[in-house]
Amino acid sequence: MFALPHLDLPPLRGAAGTVRLPGSKSISNRVLLLAGLAEGTTEIHDLLDSDDTRVMLQALRALGCSLERLEADGAVLRVQGLGGRLRVREAELFLGNAGTAMRPLAAALAVLAATQGGCFELRGVPRMHERPIGDLVDALRPLGCRIDELGTPGYPPLRVSGQAGGRLATRQPIRVRGDVSSQFLTALLLALPLVSDAGDVVVEVEGELISKPYVEITLALLARFGIQVQRAGWSRFTIPQGSRYRTPGRIHVEGDASSASYFVALGAIAALDAPVRIEGVGRDSIQGDIAFLDAAAAMGAQVHAGPNWIEVRRGRWPLQAIELDCNAIPDAAMTLAVMALYAQGTTRLSGIASWRVKETDRITAMAAELGRLGAQVDSGDDFIAVTPPAQWRAAALATYDDHRMAMCLSLAAFNPLAGAKPPVPIRIEDPGCVAKTFPDYFETLFGIVQADPAEVPVIAVDGPSASGKGTLAAALAQRLGWHLLDSGAVYRALALAALRQGVVPEDEPALLRLAAALDLRFEGERVWLGGEEIGDELRREETGAMASRVAALPAVRRALHALQLSFHRAPGLVADGRDMGTVVFPGAALKVFLTASAAERAKRRHKQLISKGIDTKITTLLADIEARDARDRSRSAAPLRAAEDALQLDNSQLGIDESVELVLQWWRQRNPLDRGR
Ligand code: C5P
Repeated sequence: MFALPHLDLPPLRGAAGTVRLPGSKSISNRVLLLAGLAEGTTEIHDLLDSDDTRVMLQALRALGCSLERLEADGAVLRVQGLGGRLRVREAELFLGNAGTAMRPLAAALAVLAATQGGCFELRGVPRMHERPIGDLVDALRPLGCRIDELGTPGYPPLRVSGQAGGRLATRQPIRVRGDVSSQFLTALLLALPLVSDAGDVVVEVEGELISKPYVEITLALLARFGIQVQRAGWSRFTIPQGSRYRTPGRIHVEGDASSASYFVALGAIAALDAPVRIEGVGRDSIQGDIAFLDAAAAMGAQVHAGPNWIEVRRGRWPLQAIELDCNAIPDAAMTLAVMALYAQGTTRLSGIASWRVKETDRITAMAAELGRLGAQVDSGDDFIAVTPPAQWRAAALATYDDHRMAMCLSLAAFNPLAGAKPPVPIRIEDPGCVAKTFPDYFETLFGIVQADPAEVPVIAVDGPSASGKGTLAAALAQRLGWHLLDSGAVYRALALAALRQGVVPEDEPALLRLAAALDLRFEGERVWLGGEEIGDELRREETGAMASRVAALPAVRRALHALQLSFHRAPGLVADGRDMGTVVFPGAALKVFLTASAAERAKRRHKQLISKGIDTKITTLLADIEARDARDRSRSAAPLRAAEDALQLDNSQLGIDESVELVLQWWRQRNPLDRGR
């Protein structure tokens, strides 16, 4: 999904199955920083691998921490900590749009530079430079930290610097505002143990502390690293004198509770027959967003949860509109705003002023995008109120480089369940922004959703051998973010299975048994047969010849029909091969029949073979291709023939990119989300 300009979701009608969540972003980045500051080695299990953790890892590496992925299992990272001693005195750190990296690193480096000497610059993407950090700077400066704002006062980029031997004024309480972002308090709590030698360090919060559960995560993780912060209510925190980060040795990152919210909502909206099961996070979570379960249940979800799993089914329907103060679950609250599309009445979420200083101004963004779908939205400084659409509209939804906008809004595709007439597809702009916390979000979602096949678009690509249809189909699938069916590979896989088991093409019953048991898995252009990767063997000449013989048997073709249909899943399918547009997907939204002159195809095949170091004569290849064309056209089972409604594309004179563009243009003319734009 990374480089896609947009991803179109067809109307979706159900969901069931199990998902495993990636690690929590909040826990991952805190654990990374603590492991980086601690003495000794920490093995981190199930760390989130995403944009926000990557910038933290790069920063730690730049600061001289040694990081090692353990061979056997990429999910384990070994961090050799600094033991509170700066190894590198100067660095420029790029922290993307990761608040969970910017704030704590700024605080830690400010106190380290002030006492041990050094100079560090912290920057991010332009949006990071619009996200406030002034309250943290104001808390640290009175201690004696030198912090220069390199752009707008109160915002990153920052330079923190100091001389070795500096002392910090930690005797009096350190005051920090808590009503803009709880990350400032978190940053201080994570950093100040570094300067607790002279006595207890006290942090006092001014104003009402928001997002308290995130501070609880901080305290829980500090405890895992040997630091027992004493807390008096939510306004006074004491770090005991002589606190030292001690590695727990091994630490496990639980699944992201905010990410869980999309699948909890999915269950509440669309799990009609069987539950949506979420693994990796559950009742025992230290993440505040787990309280989202109660909010979802209040809206009607049927929730069962164990220590580290959650199961959700639809309960009440339509959902129940709620009024809720979401101060404690600011991130997951966005999901409630989208669940509101499926509720009876108006859902009013308050206590969400912090939405305005997140990845984007989330109140404005959410109001605008839900409005595009036809919902009635009212919003103010710290609330949003959503009434479901009277008439759903197909819409292209902007995501503002905000992962949570993209993930939340995808749930609008279930509009048929809200009775949308007609059901509408939706477009998610820049879907790759989910990489901030959940790079595989859409793949995970599509893995457990159900759609009406008639509403899931198919593009069928056919053409004679060596016309380049496989290359074209793969490129189209990639550009659209759709599944790919290389039907030739299905016949080749059966042929390979037959060759391996000594089944001859005349033994139809044995071939049919093999076809029924064919355990095939495709991932992009890689293919597995019974768990073994078979890409190379599939392409062998001998396999192709056998494929051509088994494919000529009508019973074999029928036996493989259902397998091919199973590729027809949301968000869409590009199917390449002989009878895709005529037999397997006669209702395909677009059928392309690729042609190129035999001479041109012979030239291409020649070039391909030469590049593989295989020496052949072009005239021999031309004769082969002409003979194969004649055979393919005249064979009785699935002869080579363009579907009547196929668009012919002669690519003799076109490069692959031009062919792809042309087909995409044809698709846009038929796509309801593009027509009229
Ligand atoms: O396209 P490819 O060379 O991989 O196809 C392998 C064999 O399977 C060819 O002989 C082709 O004619 C046959 N085939 C078919 N129907 C399809 C796809 C491929 O008969 N849908």
